[in-house]
Amino acid sequence: MLILDGVKVAQQWCLEQKRAGKSIGLVPTMGYLHQGHLSLVQEARQQCDVVVVSIFVNPIQFGVGEDFETYPRDLSRDQALLEEEAVDALFAPLISDMYPPGYNSFVEVGGEITAKLCGASRPGHFKGVATVVSKLFNICLPDKAFFGQKDAQQVMVIEKMVRELNFPLQIVRVPIVREEDGLAKSSRNVYLDEEQRRQALVLNQALREAEMHVQQGERNVARLKEIMRKVIASSPQAVIDYIDIYDAADLGDMEQVDRKALMALAVKFGNTRLIDNRLVEV
Ligand code: PAJ
Repeated sequence: MLILDGVKVAQQWCLEQKRAGKSIGLVPTMGYLHQGHLSLVQEARQQCDVVVVSIFVNPIQFGVGEDFETYPRDLSRDQALLEEEAVDALFAPLISDMYPPGYNSFVEVGGEITAKLCGASRPGHFKGVATVVSKLFNICLPDKAFFGQKDAQQVMVIEKMVRELNFPLQIVRVPIVREEDGLAKSSRNVYLDEEQRRQALVLNQALREAEMHVQQGERNVARLKEIMRKVIASSPQAVIDYIDIYDAADLGDMEQVDRKALMALAVKFGNTRLIDNRLVEV
């Protein structure tokens, strides 16, 4: 696996691949890789000639007081995992290469899609994500870029950005990978102590419970949110950030689940904020 540690060399190498007629698949990550990330890599491996994985803990998508400094990092372990997946190139730039002194260009996706859920509780977060992902697209020149449904709002924001700014590439969504007991895999799960890890199961349980009620005919959004709230409240350490249900196409408001809906929640255990979601169809 080639290590591309500079923006210029990475862009040059990707350009050469494209000129040689190869299709490029890009998997953007912040590292500390787990099976969720690797499922994106495997999908890229199947769909593209050349697979590029980026590892970059993007400072501008973290808010003040968030976990940028403590975000888990282990580049040599990540490198070994990517070798096993037959990745062609790892792009791991320095912050100073991505954002040199005086850096001042940003990409902002507006509208309802960024105003709700994580957009509301993490101001500026999606501006940071849209900016770094735009840069990664311009550097790595992918034909396809792979994103997890774990971050459902993120992939919707990226899809809107690609559509509206005419990026010549396709976004591929990959399903959520979970631990055996149902907790969605996340680099942040390492922050949880044993008791919090046990209690964190309420996220998936709440979504499952709500989905079951939808399947049994419940359509009322307020009542479904209350069902989820009760399950989360059964965990003494859980502090709810949001529990919401929106139109899965555009995050529009809905009072009744009468079309495909995104049920999403964010819950804090101590300083650790976990997110999870489920799509429900009726
Ligand atoms: P990160 O949290 O490292 O996630 C990288 C990609 O892996 C995202 O597309 C995310 O949705 C996906 N992913 C994470 N956990 C997953 C799981 N359990 N199942 C399936 N996919 C999963 O998301 C980011 O980094 C950053 O915001 C980034 C897009 C790289 C921009 O900085």
